[in-house]
Amino acid sequence: MTTLDRDVVIIGAGPSGLTAAYELRKAGKTVAVLEARDRVGGRTWSQDMDGATIEIGGQWISPDQTGLYSLIEELGIETFERYKEGASVYMAADGTRTVYTGEDFPVAESTVAEMNKLIAEMDRLTAQVDPDAPWEHPQAAELDMISFHHWLRTLSDDEVACNNVGLFIAGGMLTKPAHTFSALQALLMSSSAGSFSNLVDEDFILDRRMVGTMQGVSIAVAQRLGEDVYLNNPVLKLDWSDEGVTAYGADVTVTAKKVIIAVPPNLYSRISYNPPLPRRQHVTHQHQSMGLVIKVHAVYETPFWREEGLSGTCFGPSSIVQEIYDNTYHEETTGTLVGFISDLQADAMFELSETERKETILKDMATYLGPKALEAKVFYLSDFGSEEWTRGAYATSYDLGGLFRFGPDQNKNVGPIYFSSSDLAGEGYQHVDGAVRMGRRAAARIAAAVDGTDEDLGYDGVISKFGTLTSLDA
Ligand code: FDA
Repeated sequence: MTTLDRDVVIIGAGPSGLTAAYELRKAGKTVAVLEARDRVGGRTWSQDMDGATIEIGGQWISPDQTGLYSLIEELGIETFERYKEGASVYMAADGTRTVYTGEDFPVAESTVAEMNKLIAEMDRLTAQVDPDAPWEHPQAAELDMISFHHWLRTLSDDEVACNNVGLFIAGGMLTKPAHTFSALQALLMSSSAGSFSNLVDEDFILDRRMVGTMQGVSIAVAQRLGEDVYLNNPVLKLDWSDEGVTAYGADVTVTAKKVIIAVPPNLYSRISYNPPLPRRQHVTHQHQSMGLVIKVHAVYETPFWREEGLSGTCFGPSSIVQEIYDNTYHEETTGTLVGFISDLQADAMFELSETERKETILKDMATYLGPKALEAKVFYLSDFGSEEWTRGAYATSYDLGGLFRFGPDQNKNVGPIYFSSSDLAGEGYQHVDGAVRMGRRAAARIAAAVDGTDEDLGYDGVISKFGTLTSLDA
């Protein structure tokens, strides 16, 4: 057993924990990062599969994600653009396949008009929502009482329009059915990306990827931290008092002045706190749960869809695989498709045997892109739902009414205990960008408090001292 004494101990070596540790080290603090897995990166993870680079977890960056952009600039990491040339494919609920170009789905003109009306209303409200405090919106209580599914239907009686617009937040982002989360939660998601139109625009939100993969960002930060990162050290017990903390890993114990718990909120209760956390924190984080999505990877000898003038982008709100994109990695000659199977469809796929599952999924992809889609030489499904140290994908969101009721407390520290993860972010919520922003914020708050040269400001204190939290990201 190794025993260490540090200024700050960080639990979790995902992008948020590593960024926090990196910033604290730059501020002259001593740190130790304890990670449960045998690798860094958390929900970002990549592997070589038969010569193709597969990003099993998070991968895309959008132009507004300046927190992550500033980190990769510092690390010297380049990005490359997703392949976007050519037409897209839309699959209607009745199985009609349409090849189309332009921004609008090829649906009835009246449905396009309804979709645009819903998008405009989402944009209007989103502009009024502060992603760091959506619960402060004047209609927050009301918007948190109604499911996104039902709220859309108060605005339109066009079922196809409601389903198509719902998809961008439900299947596409929170990876939960639209009846399980509120309209306010949906507005947090859109305000975290600047606008709803940004989320709807796949060329914006899925703009670029990292040369060296998204996990490469965490690896680069971990390299700078060197021996201060301890893998295979799940923390299951934490002693704490106003004087400091002791975190117990498998073979490393760290005493420190402060701790940052940089794991997703659904895992906070894996740790046994001594003394227990206050009632409010015990209850709050139980209302944040993970969505579920299967990320499908299929690699082909060539990107055959490109030869047919297709971009590889496909949408089918009623299909098993609801979204498909060309996911060929930088400079590879093989072609890779990525598809997403969300929530209820994901449940159904996991009921099948492995062989049936593969057959069903590839057949569905072939309805969009033709029989060549059946001939995948690599077929792999990302399944973070079965990973002990994640338990879902992409991230957590509140149940109905939870965001308004508990959101204001989600980022408050409990004495020396601070929380940091993309799940708690405003801007960049659910994204690596949000993880980076939260890591920086936690580091800034702690750096101000850890020496005893400044009072422990807490969340509200940091806001009043530094203005908005966003200014900390500069
Ligand atoms: P993260 O979960 O990454 O890291 C937490 C770490 O804590 C993990 O390493 C875990 O092992 C560790 N841990 C947990 N419990 C512990 C314990 N008790 N003791 C010690 N360690 C513990 N984002 C994006 O920007 N673009 C994208 O394209 C996508 N796509 C995407 C696809 C898929 C399939 C997934 C699963 C996720 C995405 N995301 C994404 C989301 C993105 O990956 C996610 O928001 C960030 O990785 C979150 O970073 P954090 O550091 O907050 O948590």
